Amino acid sequence: MSVAKKTFKKITTHVLQEMKARQEKIAMLTAYDYTFAQIIDSALIDVILVGDSASNVIFGHETTLPITLDQMIDIASAVVRGVDRSLVVVDLPFGYYQGDGKTALKSAIKIMKSSGGHAIKMEGGRHIADYITRIVNAGIPVMGHLGLMPQSIYKYGTYTVRAKEEEEASTLLEDALILEKAGCFAIVLEKIPAELARRVTETVQIPTIGIGAGPYCDGQVLVTHDMLGINKEFSPRFLRRYANLNEIMTQGIKNYIEDVKSGSFPTIDESY
Ligand code: KIV
Repeated sequence: MSVAKKTFKKITTHVLQEMKARQEKIAMLTAYDYTFAQIIDSALIDVILVGDSASNVIFGHETTLPITLDQMIDIASAVVRGVDRSLVVVDLPFGYYQGDGKTALKSAIKIMKSSGGHAIKMEGGRHIADYITRIVNAGIPVMGHLGLMPQSIYKYGTYTVRAKEEEEASTLLEDALILEKAGCFAIVLEKIPAELARRVTETVQIPTIGIGAGPYCDGQVLVTHDMLGINKEFSPRFLRRYANLNEIMTQGIKNYIEDVKSGSFPTIDESY
């Protein structure tokens, strides 16, 4: 019996760069487990982000701050096992890189070695640029993240749109250039005005991936549980829901409960 050969091209950071060059949009979604990763990868997504949004989505915390490096590694390892084609980017969680370059490099290496992920993501601009260069020099691809940075939520005090004023917008644009120079292969732009995202996208050579940053970015990312309507509490303007899984799941579970209670499940045909 012949084994069917896999014919897909694996997505690498170089592929993303080529996609920007030919103006092909990059699609990215989050995943936090093996089964979701398999489904998302099979649907031919370009990038899977093992986001520290797992802190909210998986562990039920109010912010992304509490999740630990070991928790991120466990989640990322499961995701990597479900992926054949996509580039898997893993968030460096809060508290494991902000202090100094040595700690940042140690955390990045631990993620790469233990999870099998292909790249990491870090929130911040000029203040972490040296750490990023150190990590990139060690051979680890780094995705940057500017605009709304949820790991700094207690500094902002709110999740509203960032960089609406020119001063913050210019700083963000400078930071994007600094991240590019530091060696980032792409930058997430979260919740900033569309026109600013356009300026950044046209200024840097590396791909920008937007979330709540309008249509001019080189790619888009959403949290899978939000865009599939599993989580129904979160509905910001930027979120488009592609399914209403919460309702479908709730109805399925209710039907099951009813069948068990009434004795109609299982039937003899469903027995041994
Ligand atoms: O953790 C996450 O899911 C993210 C995306 C929102 C970009 O950083």
